[in-house]
Amino acid sequence: MNHRSNSHLWLLVSIVLSGVCLGNAQVPFPGKCPDVQLLDSFDAEAYMGIWYEYSAYPNTFELGQECVYANYSIVDSSTVSVVNGGISGVTGQATNATAIAKVLGPGQLAVAFYEGQSLTNANYLVLGTDYESYAVVYSCTSITQWANIKFAWILTRERQPSAETIDVAKKILDDNKVSQEYLSKTVQQNCPQL
Ligand SMILES: *[C@@H]1O[C@H](CO)[C@@H](O)[C@H](O)[C@H]1NC(C)=O
Ligand SMILES: *[C@@H]1O[C@H](CO)[C@@H](O)[C@H](O)[C@H]1NC(C)=O
Repeated sequence: MNHRSNSHLWLLVSIVLSGVCLGNAQVPFPGKCPDVQLLDSFDAEAYMGIWYEYSAYPNTFELGQECVYANYSIVDSSTVSVVNGGISGVTGQATNATAIAKVLGPGQLAVAFYEGQSLTNANYLVLGTDYESYAVVYSCTSITQWANIKFAWILTRERQPSAETIDVAKKILDDNKVSQEYLSKTVQQNCPQL
């Protein structure tokens, strides 16, 4: 387990919990979290395996990381193990962080990055996936009555997905009124083969 990434995660969680906002590394929005369309059904098993991060909202835990991927694997019927990996754009070092997730509902996961973190709040929502090429993941936390912090990710099975695949993913963001303005493309060039 990478301690540096973990301290980033811990920092993020503390910031969210204390209702203070770093400003530069997360995207704060006015108001409470808006409603999004949840999935009716979700095949957790088909969702497992490697996903590459095509683009994402800025977040402290992945700052400056390239070649970012997630590896999900089933632990038991409701538990998923998560490894987030990447390469530091600064040092070129491979880093990773592990987490555990509970499937709370169709496409609704609670991801915990540290021991004892509550697994009752769906902080990872799959807004859409075909399991084979793309997944659109969203997270929103109300930090006060007047502000929320959002994260969004487009994940793809290939490091270099087709334009058609990305169009489908972006349409899902549009359908849910999730802004694409803050999505920044993740470097997936010259990456180590997994
Ligand atoms: C995670 O990083 C550690 C070193 O920090 C390494 O030993 C381990 O193999 C890595 N795990 C994966 C899945 O890449
Ligand atoms: C992904 O996780 C599975 C289950 O732990 C493991 O067998 C596999 O080697 C991992 N793949 C990579 C590329 O780390």
